[in-house]
Amino acid sequence: MDVADAGRYKKWGAKTAASCGRIYNVYLLRRENMYKSEENWRMIDEYFIEQLVKEDEILLEVKKSAVMNNVPSHEVVANQGKFLSVIAQMINAKRILEFGTLAGYSTIWFARAVGLSGHVITLEINKNYAKLARENFKKAKVSEIIELIEGPALQSAQKLVNFNVEPFDLIFIDADKPNNPNYLEYAIKLIRPGGVVICDNVVRNGEICNPDSQDDRVYGVRKFITDMALNPLISATALQTVGLKGWDGFTIAVIKK
Ligand code: DHB
Ligand code: MG
Repeated sequence: MDVADAGRYKKWGAKTAASCGRIYNVYLLRRENMYKSEENWRMIDEYFIEQLVKEDEILLEVKKSAVMNNVPSHEVVANQGKFLSVIAQMINAKRILEFGTLAGYSTIWFARAVGLSGHVITLEINKNYAKLARENFKKAKVSEIIELIEGPALQSAQKLVNFNVEPFDLIFIDADKPNNPNYLEYAIKLIRPGGVVICDNVVRNGEICNPDSQDDRVYGVRKFITDMALNPLISATALQTVGLKGWDGFTIAVIKK
């Protein structure tokens, strides 16, 4: 960011050039203004990110690249990325599958979590996003760890089943929401016994419990929740979150098999 830009972010309290990177990042999220989020929720996320997450320049660049290339600003925020990384480390995950790459922000968190002996496969339908994500993986020096499969995620997942790939320790579902129930079916096929399946955006600003909702994304999430509830192999829960991305939530599940 140049000096002229830095001046513009002063109103957000950027006291030094060094702090501008993070402030700029916050600015980008605000400029999008797509998440209904309260100032105190944002402030607490910013505090945790500054204290515990230490989102580095590369991750900030990845977010910036998403904005510059008109990729929807749907990536997880930094403390959520770290949350995913901590879970991956807790289960000593070495193989991770991700539905939905966008610019590769969460993918990089996962790649760093599994390390050089690990492998992350990420599925992206949009060829422009896929190209950008590959560039970002290079910048983050994690290209060796990540395999991006371009194309509709259901077809790519079917290929993984056909190739009988080694099962995954962790699967993250964060793509087009109407397909969540289908992604769950593939996750059950592709996860190792005792593996973890996490899904993003299961609250959707409370819409998930709005009986009048006509939104296919809401229907997709609801069916996904019901399917997990009815499956005796799955032990799952859901947690709401508030913060920089507004009011939303994750499900987390263990697949017993
Ligand atoms: C949407 C999708 C996401 O993955 C997300 O994190 C936030 C919003 C959406 O499609 O609206
Ligand atoms: Mg998401």
